[in-house]
Amino acid sequence: MSQNPYADDRGNKDASITKPGPGPTLHRGAIPAERPETQSAFLIGDQMTGGYGGGADILHDCTIAVDAGEIAVIVGPNGAGKSTAMKAVFGMLDLRKGSVRLDGQDITALSPQDRVKAGMGFVPQNNNIFTSMTVEENLEMGAFIRRDDIRSTMEQVYDLFPILRDKRRQPAGELSGGQRQQVAVGRALMTKPKVLMLDEPTAGVSPIVMDELFDRIIEVSRTGIPILMVEQNARQALNIADKGYVLVQGRNAYTGTGKALMEDDEVRRSFLGG
Ligand SMILES: Nc1ncnc2c1ncn2[C@@H]1O[C@H](COP(=O)(O)OP(=O)(O)O)[C@@H](O)[C@H]1O
Ligand SMILES: [Mg+2]
Repeated sequence: MSQNPYADDRGNKDASITKPGPGPTLHRGAIPAERPETQSAFLIGDQMTGGYGGGADILHDCTIAVDAGEIAVIVGPNGAGKSTAMKAVFGMLDLRKGSVRLDGQDITALSPQDRVKAGMGFVPQNNNIFTSMTVEENLEMGAFIRRDDIRSTMEQVYDLFPILRDKRRQPAGELSGGQRQQVAVGRALMTKPKVLMLDEPTAGVSPIVMDELFDRIIEVSRTGIPILMVEQNARQALNIADKGYVLVQGRNAYTGTGKALMEDDEVRRSFLGG
């Protein structure tokens, strides 16, 4: 049995022992530009404004960020711009205003491929695997930027998601929804990212499979990879989140610790089903 690097104890803390830190734990409306805890984040899309092509702006001064060792979760209604904000951070959108920084470097001008080289792993909401290729070919494709030996990383992915080892010769399109999401996350891990961005990793799976995926995501974060994640299962996601963002119509509506958001009456009523 090879050692599983995703199973050690470093990195992210359990959300139940998250420190509230100084100052308010919940912030309403736009994010003040000077907020130091956001400014020093490991990955930040900072006050992003922009839309698709020449179309109207979808994002308005929108800020999303994740700190080292943390899980940050973005929630909000359908069409709020959650995926658009993730695409903007990944460089798939031309921003009219704002910037993206990774580990202290301004990467606003980098292409998505160069952002991968700089350490970003991104699992988009749709079309995140090659269905006609085998599981193993998907993982190999994920490592496209690497020139070194990828086998130990592949073993780490198989240790994290053992079912993928069993199914490595099967076309990914034949797998269940939850298994496909494992392929997608595994593919992103093949570049050995410094930060992982996931857009609705539990879309369309049963509650049991969702819990299982969340456990694996926590495991990844404990290896020291910060996670910036969009989730429709808002309550469950905020439960494992160090930081949460509620987006509404392309704007920051509420920001706080996962705990503060879950305890806020207005957030509960409007976004968590009471
Ligand atoms: N490729 C695209 N081209 C033009 N508009 C888009 C595109 N993708 C999304 N939009 C629009 O951007 C807005 C936000 O969508 P999206 O970011 O997908 O929301 P969410 O992920 O929060 O459900 C919606 O009004 C949607 O119609
Ligand atoms: Mg979306």
